[in-house]
Amino acid sequence: MAAGPRTPRRARLTGVGAYVPERVMTNAELEVMVDTTDEWILARTGIRERHIAAGDQATTDLAAAAVRDLLDRTGTAPSDIDLLIIATTTPDYVFPPCAPLVGTMTGMDSVAAFDLNAVCSGFMYGMAQATGMVEAGLIRRAVVVGADTLSRIINWEDRATCVLFADGAGAVMIEADDGAPGTGVVGFDLGSDGSTPGDLWVPAGGTRTPITPGVPHADTCIQMNGREVFRFATRILVESSARLLREAGLTIDDIDLLVAHQANERILDHASERIGIPREKVVMNLDRLGNTSSASIPLALAEARDTGVLADGALVLMVGFGAGLTWGSVLARWEPRP
Ligand code: COA
Repeated sequence: MAAGPRTPRRARLTGVGAYVPERVMTNAELEVMVDTTDEWILARTGIRERHIAAGDQATTDLAAAAVRDLLDRTGTAPSDIDLLIIATTTPDYVFPPCAPLVGTMTGMDSVAAFDLNAVCSGFMYGMAQATGMVEAGLIRRAVVVGADTLSRIINWEDRATCVLFADGAGAVMIEADDGAPGTGVVGFDLGSDGSTPGDLWVPAGGTRTPITPGVPHADTCIQMNGREVFRFATRILVESSARLLREAGLTIDDIDLLVAHQANERILDHASERIGIPREKVVMNLDRLGNTSSASIPLALAEARDTGVLADGALVLMVGFGAGLTWGSVLARWEPRP
């Protein structure tokens, strides 16, 4: 990527692609693995089933499938993409990052490409980054992917976490408006609080505690203080949405659709009630997909498009939250390519 003289412009959200692995894991299967029940999982989380990557699938495979879907649907040539960002917490390797590999897998020769890790908020950070670069005139067109293979870092003996998380990938196109009418990507609210990392983390495997023979398997997997994360999630969903709407000079009545991180139905119910948005404007697909971390928002957006809930020109409020703790909200008009 090389940027010459820069022309400020607006960035638009013009496409979405998705991929989930074929294998479906039901709550009934989890009943056999840990001391849980379908009733408990459904009542406490809203999840019925989730998709799990095949043994030979890694995060780049899921991401590349979502990118191909996006390029097909928008009729975009891979060579027209200037920047590829992959938000992920579960890269194929410590390095290289996923993005250069996915660029090559999808025919984007020499594309500027990097990974971004803000866990379940990563996709929102990626959209902000891409929008900033388009609007600064550095690039014309970016693909932002959220992709995670959380099944590889789940402790399948921990009933408090293994029922929640799953695998998938979603991708969006952010591109320069070329003077076309429309409001584009309206604004962002991004933030973090690193004071309680242990609320949701994988303690080992990084530079602080490398994986050595003495490290318990459980420490190489997701560990969570569910109640604290629940409290944080409901609070931040409300606060971040309110801040962004205030900044944009809008109210919740201006929003056509809320696409929030698909963590738990009760979190979405609590938060949407407090935000004051009617249930029919809240997208939910976690019953079939579980919590797919970075992928959950683009996957929900893609499903809303497929079911006709996401109308052309709709003003969409997207809110992500997760480990870090981190959060990120994006307000954007859905302006698909004709
Ligand atoms: N099946 C059956 N019982 C389970 C269980 C399971 N899968 N998981 C936990 N329990 C038990 C607990 O051990 C506890 O038992 P105890 O009272 O005998 O100690 C009981 O259920 C209640 O646990 P609690 O943690 O209070 O449940 P909860 O109502 O808070 O629901 C979560 C647990 C994890 C569903 C909920 O806290 C949650 O969704 N938190 C947010 C998680 C999240 O979204 N994380 C990702 C953010 S990106």
